[in-house]
Amino acid sequence: MAMVSTYCPQFSGLRRSCPKLDNSQSQSFVQHINSQLRLSSSPKPCRAVLAMAGSGKFFVGGNWKCNGTNESITKLVSDLNSSTLESDVDVVVAPPFVYLDQVKASLTDRIEVSAQNSWIGKGGAFTGEISVEQLKDIGCKWVILGHSERRHIIGEDDQFIGKKAAYALNEGLGVIACIGELLEEREAGKTFDVCFQQLKAFADVVPSWDNIVIAYEPVWAIGTGKVATPQQAQEVHEAVRDWLKKNVSEEVASKTRIIYGGSVNGGNCADLAKEEDIDGFLVGGASLKGPEFATIINSVTSKKVAA
Ligand code: PGA
Repeated sequence: MAMVSTYCPQFSGLRRSCPKLDNSQSQSFVQHINSQLRLSSSPKPCRAVLAMAGSGKFFVGGNWKCNGTNESITKLVSDLNSSTLESDVDVVVAPPFVYLDQVKASLTDRIEVSAQNSWIGKGGAFTGEISVEQLKDIGCKWVILGHSERRHIIGEDDQFIGKKAAYALNEGLGVIACIGELLEEREAGKTFDVCFQQLKAFADVVPSWDNIVIAYEPVWAIGTGKVATPQQAQEVHEAVRDWLKKNVSEEVASKTRIIYGGSVNGGNCADLAKEEDIDGFLVGGASLKGPEFATIINSVTSKKVAA
C-alpha cells in the first residue's frame, strides 16, 4: 500500500490517476503493481487500483437514528474528534434532530453533519417537520431520504420521497438517497426491479446528480446483524451503476457514489470495501461507537490494495 502511494500520489476519489511517468518509471511501476496487486498485464498503468468502478471519493455516513442522550452523544463526538481518519474519505454523521446543532458545534470540521429527514418544501405550518432552510441555517450539509424505516414504518412512498429529494437538492443540500428490497422481494427475484423503481423515482425529479449519494440498503440486512455478502452487495451496486449509465449518463454512473448499508461493522467492512462498485457505507448501529465507526471509515485502505 505504501508503495502504491509512492508510485501514484495523485488521485481523485478512488479512481487513481497516475502522474505521467517516464518510460523506466512506468515499467517498474507496472512490474511492481503486477507483482503486488495481481493486476492483469493489460497496458493500463494508470488503473493502479482495481477495486473501484466509480470515480467518486469513498463516502461513509453514520446514521444514528433515534438513539442517544446528551451524555452518550457528547462521548461519541469526543471519540470521533480524537480518532485518526484516512484523509481520502468523505465522512458524515446524522444525529437525531434535537442534537444536530450541538453535534455540529462540537464535532470536528473533518466530519459533516446530515439530517435524517427533511420536509418536502418551505417551512411553515407543518407540525413536527424540519425544513431544508432550517437545516442549512445550522450548517447541515446532507439529508438522508428514502430510508427503509421511513418507507416501511412511516409509510413514505416514492413520490413523497422524490419531492423531498428534489426540494433539498434545489436548495443546495446533499441527498443520501436510500434504496433497497425487502426479504420477500429478494426471495421473489425482484431485487433489481425494486431498486430500479426506487432509483427511477429519484431520477425522474432530481435537478442534477452532483450532490447525490445512493445508499443501497437491503431491508433484511438493516439492524439484523445479517449483512449482505460482498458478492450480493456488489451485484446490486454494479446493476445500479449500470442503470445510471443507461438511464442518466455515463458520467453520472461513474461519479455517483453507491454506498452499502445493512449491518456493516468493524469486522465486515474491509471485505465489503474491496468490491469494485462499493464506494462506502451507510452505517447504523456500529456508527454509535466512535472507534468502530473510525475502523469502518478507514476501511478505504483495504480498497486501495484490493484487486
Ligand atoms: P445498521 O443500519 O447498520 O444498524 O444495519 C443501517 C442503516 O439503516 O442505515
